[in-house]
Amino acid sequence: MTKVVAFNGSPRKEGNTSILIRHVFDELEKEGIETETVQVGGRKIHGCTACMKCFENRDRHCVIDDDIVNSCIDTMTEADGIILGSPVYFLDVTPEMKALIDRAGFVSYANGHPFSHKVGNAVVAVRRTGASRTFDSLLHFFLANDMIVPGFPAIGVGRDIGDVERDEEGIQHAKRVGQNMAWLLRMMNH
Ligand SMILES: Cc1cc2nc3c(=O)[nH]c(=O)nc-3n(C[C@H](O)[C@H](O)[C@H](O)COP(=O)(O)O)c2cc1C
Repeated sequence: MTKVVAFNGSPRKEGNTSILIRHVFDELEKEGIETETVQVGGRKIHGCTACMKCFENRDRHCVIDDDIVNSCIDTMTEADGIILGSPVYFLDVTPEMKALIDRAGFVSYANGHPFSHKVGNAVVAVRRTGASRTFDSLLHFFLANDMIVPGFPAIGVGRDIGDVERDEEGIQHAKRVGQNMAWLLRMMNH
């Protein structure tokens, strides 16, 4: 079965980022696509230490094995589509999301780009400023890994948990991202 996995970089498990992911998922599920969210924000997760062991070992894993990154890499490898979701923190992604991007990205580079030709997209929750830049940070993970991104940015505006539900345009954009991902996955015969 076709599967899309979303990584939620917000420490607020049920916050605005998660709500946007849910709207993307609704559209994917309507098309019979399986979905799963992996909670990344708020969990202990190391940054890349630049030890370069991933290039020595080339075993599709990071040498740091006491956090969730290796299981995230496995989940990414098995999925047909990947969503990275983050709230804007000081005009960029959360530190947990950045750690995942750096370490999963380097492991991918060391192992012949196992995420090649998967479908990717990003979801961003913002109160006021920095959404485009955060969106770019997330997109670069896909573009640097041979992945394919169907257009449209899912950016929702809100501060407190649930605020984003009142951003009608943001919700519509999230739904459109789900529709576009489903369309592309179908076109690719997943
Ligand atoms: C540490 C921190 C930094 C933030 N920095 C920004 C920022 O630079 N720009 C902005 O518009 N919102 C900023 N926010 C607000 C969040 O992006 C906003 O509340 C968002 O809806 C949270 O999404 P969530 O519920 O998924 O965590 C910040 C929030 C926190 C806790």
